[in-house]
Amino acid sequence: MTDNNTIIKMDMGTMQSNTHAAGKPVLCLGIESSCDETSAAIVDSNRNVLAHIVYSQIPEHQKYGGVVPELAARAHILAIDTVVKQTLDAAGKNIDDIDVIAATAGPGLIGGVLVGWMAATGIAQSTGKPLVAVNHLEGHALVPRLSATAANGTGKGASVDFPYLLMLASGGHCQILLVRGVGKYELIGQTIDDSAGEAFDKVSKMLGLGYPGGPIVDKRAQMGNPKRFHFPRPLCDKPNCDFSFSGIKTAARIMLDKNTEQVNDEFINDFCASFQSAVVDCIINRLNHAMDTEIVKQVKPKTLVVAGGVAKNSAIRAAMEKLATTKNMIFAAPPMNLCTDNGAMIAWAGIENWRIGNIVQEPIAPRPRWPLTEL
Ligand code: KG4
Ligand code: ZN
Repeated sequence: MTDNNTIIKMDMGTMQSNTHAAGKPVLCLGIESSCDETSAAIVDSNRNVLAHIVYSQIPEHQKYGGVVPELAARAHILAIDTVVKQTLDAAGKNIDDIDVIAATAGPGLIGGVLVGWMAATGIAQSTGKPLVAVNHLEGHALVPRLSATAANGTGKGASVDFPYLLMLASGGHCQILLVRGVGKYELIGQTIDDSAGEAFDKVSKMLGLGYPGGPIVDKRAQMGNPKRFHFPRPLCDKPNCDFSFSGIKTAARIMLDKNTEQVNDEFINDFCASFQSAVVDCIINRLNHAMDTEIVKQVKPKTLVVAGGVAKNSAIRAAMEKLATTKNMIFAAPPMNLCTDNGAMIAWAGIENWRIGNIVQEPIAPRPRWPLTEL
């Protein structure tokens, strides 16, 4: 999710050349529509984002306190043609200039996924261009290879090489994965109930702060005392790498019910800071466990990566960067606008899949559920 409707045109500089037959970089048009953003981007194989349009539906869902799937699907239908056309115009390209078409084919809200997927299929069929069915989670997982802020002296925009250890935290997912390559994911741990993003959104709703909750709670937490309230750290004593956030959410509900008279700005800031600090502790504890697993010790990933909407969180980024430093790893996170859902990550995953020949050969059915480990 983005904070508002934005039009972003960027040039990330040339980093690595992967060219097709004519020696020119490959241009991919990527379409994302799996939740409440209708987004398209044109990205090339040299890691340039030529144009990127994100139409956010947040204003349409805000009054319901969350995404309403039917409204989202309808809004995608109304926006998709304009968003694709604006993206081509912003890049100064027409459809004949594009080499590859990519779109999210799942997982996500199926009505929205269908809109973007059918648009991409229509373009690919009418132009004869190759079509890539992108797994939305793979879009998040690979986008740090398009653009990432890396610490440990490697500077900004360093490309992220395989294998890497990934904390994927979004509104729908919370997983630790070992990323060995395109389509090669090993699940190290995941939530057994809510996702981290859901926990942020629900706590924000309880406090009457609005939707989406993550950015608001993050902002309020920066002004608060993280030690004032005690939130549980579920599963942190367990030897595996799984998460649980529903207990933190319940603790929040009970604490709020007990203190209704005290709720003022300072209370809310301290509450957000204390809640966020519990989430950060869980993430760091679980990542520490992940680094101690046999598989991770054997593969020895050099980079620790955070991706997904929750990767925008300032405290999570800072804590993960610190963890990476103590473990002698590089830390990498996508720039803010590539953390929440966006078309650029789909276009980049389109290029990465196209490179290994992973293009659609016959009609496929988009999937509401599509774990990365099934790629
Ligand atoms: O990846 P994303 O855009 O959508 C899904 O694929 O689910 O992630 C959206 C989630 C929302 O739950 C939102 O509250 C959360 O990312 N989020 C944040 C922050 N910004 C967005 N969570 C914590 N801190 C933030 N700054
Ligand atoms: Zn997402």
